Amino acid sequence: MANLSSNVLARNAQLYDRVKRVIPPPEWATFAEDVDAILELKRTRNAVILAHNYQTPEIFHGVADIVGDSLLLAREATKVDADVIVLAGVHFMAETAKLLNPGKTVLIPDLKAGCSLADSITPADVRLMRQRYPGAPVVTYVNTSAAVKAESDICCTSGNALRVVESLGTNSVIMLPDEYLAQNIAKQTGVKIIAWKGHCEVHELFTPDDIRQIRDNHPGVTVLAHPECPPEVVAEADFSGSTADMSGYVETKRPPRVVLLTECSMSDNIAVLHPDVEFIRPCNLCPHMKRITLKNIRHALETDQHQVTIDPAIAASARRAVERMLAV
Ligand code: 13P
Ligand code: SF4
Repeated sequence: MANLSSNVLARNAQLYDRVKRVIPPPEWATFAEDVDAILELKRTRNAVILAHNYQTPEIFHGVADIVGDSLLLAREATKVDADVIVLAGVHFMAETAKLLNPGKTVLIPDLKAGCSLADSITPADVRLMRQRYPGAPVVTYVNTSAAVKAESDICCTSGNALRVVESLGTNSVIMLPDEYLAQNIAKQTGVKIIAWKGHCEVHELFTPDDIRQIRDNHPGVTVLAHPECPPEVVAEADFSGSTADMSGYVETKRPPRVVLLTECSMSDNIAVLHPDVEFIRPCNLCPHMKRITLKNIRHALETDQHQVTIDPAIAASARRAVERMLAV
């Protein structure tokens, strides 16, 4: 056993070199065997792992083939030619990948990896909004169930919400379900935005006072905030954008000191790539994203659990809304 472990560690030494700034050696020792097994399972099963930016570094840097924000994961899902897709992220992301790959096996390692935004709205709610605001198109955030997507005209992510809203050519749009994203977009466009009352349980916790304290304690810090944060938080930040936009900001501007007001793993994952940038780390953990582990990714590839399925009655309409977004 000790021998096997040292072989495994030796085989994955290059991989560890990449993440050693954020994963101490004793912790890596507990991950290496699963990393090694997953890399082999991907080969034998002709599988790819799509991982969201909020996945922990051993997943993000250790086993994922494609990493990114919700928009990139949806786009890349259209190009996959493997037989099996494992979605290291939350359930709505796996559903989106399945919508775009109806003939492939799409696995989510934990079925309970949900999302407070997706839980905040039902298809009946969308129908009610349509009745209340006749003629206004429905733009649905990808953080929703396939059933809710099926009731909408087009999807959006935080990375393309403004473009999607303005692509519709109407004076008003219904934008569901994230109230704060809707309010943040409303500030950037002349289109009237009709919002719902859903919130991300991670981003709604940040306050303007947090930013003031961070600035006091860390002079010169650049503050980046995700647009799922309340508008008063975004107003006090230096920049706001999707997780990919935040990553791009750090990559291109190289702020000496930065704080990312978003989920905790995001800073770890980018810090691996930018040793010259100091990351200040107040962050909030997403309990849903954290349900995904190396152990359950391995189990998913060994057992095909859990396969994502979409009710055929809604699949075509939901797919249309996602594909329309990808065409914008
Ligand atoms: P993006 O990666 O699209 O910015 O989304 C953030 C998020 O909260 C996903 O659940
Ligand atoms: Fe949902 Fe927020 Fe978690 Fe993203 S971070 S999955 S929006 S609860």
